[in-house]
Amino acid sequence: SSVGTGRAHGKVILLGEHAVVYGAPALAVPVPGLRVTASADGSSAERDTISFVLPPVADVVAVNQAEGGLPGLIARLRDRFGVPGTMWVDVRVACSIPLGRGLGASAAYARAVVLAVADLFGRRLDAEEVFELVQAAESVVHGRASGVDAHAVGSSVPILFSGGAVERLRIGFDGVVVIADSGVAGRTRDAVELLRGRFAREPLYQARFVDMVESETWASMGDLADGRAKEFGARLTTAHGLLREAGLSTDQIDDLVEVALRAGALGAKITGGGLGGCLIAVTDNAGTASTVARRLEEAGAVKTWRAPLRRVCRC
Ligand code: MEV
Repeated sequence: SSVGTGRAHGKVILLGEHAVVYGAPALAVPVPGLRVTASADGSSAERDTISFVLPPVADVVAVNQAEGGLPGLIARLRDRFGVPGTMWVDVRVACSIPLGRGLGASAAYARAVVLAVADLFGRRLDAEEVFELVQAAESVVHGRASGVDAHAVGSSVPILFSGGAVERLRIGFDGVVVIADSGVAGRTRDAVELLRGRFAREPLYQARFVDMVESETWASMGDLADGRAKEFGARLTTAHGLLREAGLSTDQIDDLVEVALRAGALGAKITGGGLGGCLIAVTDNAGTASTVARRLEEAGAVKTWRAPLRRVCRC
């Protein structure tokens, strides 16, 4: 009997979401507490074509299948592996990443499936091949995906994504990212469309938005590397203002950002696609991170997670 396995994890964007779709850099952090594991079982009865039975994660399948991401991915895997003869592959996925919260569920799901199927067929895909397969599924789900999620869900360290390449971020303080789920699903695809529409009508606004986000992102890398935690936090809050102005935040998330700042966070912002979803708050120690998480939950966040910036994620 042969079974392949694959896994991936969630991610949050620290800075640069949306602007990254227009060529600006983005910073992303793996979230070890959010996981997807997939197994691909090729041992069941032989049939006359290579088929894939799809995973029993009802809503992930709904999101991906409705938009064609999963069937497309499976067609690509079938081509890539060109398994001769007859085979029936049963792929099962367990996913603890809530959907539609900007936490990378769709990319992590695709990555776990790609790795499980490759493992089943005993093929080693290099990082670029895995990225291409995941990115192809993402482009369908997100409309126009920059590629940052497809990289971040497979990285064990915080990354800079710029010009299509990834680099490890240097972190000079014991930062903790608190992630809070507003409980309201955002729609990355709709958010990307909304912004594209506004940019088409207001090209000067596009240039200003992308430039301002980009300069915060580059400057924040120096703050992160040199341990200027306060300055880094302030840039996050500035970026929240830019995303809010762009119409991508919600009143509830604006309120939660205030709650986090009052609880001692150095900075806070909405993260990912927006129009709902999650916010992040950054602290420079674990104690304040606990307080911030607790206050956010008291204020209505349905769930919180923590991602230490300096720990390598075993994922
Ligand atoms: C999603 O995590 C980030 C966005 O910038 C979309 C993308 O980069 O593909 C909103």
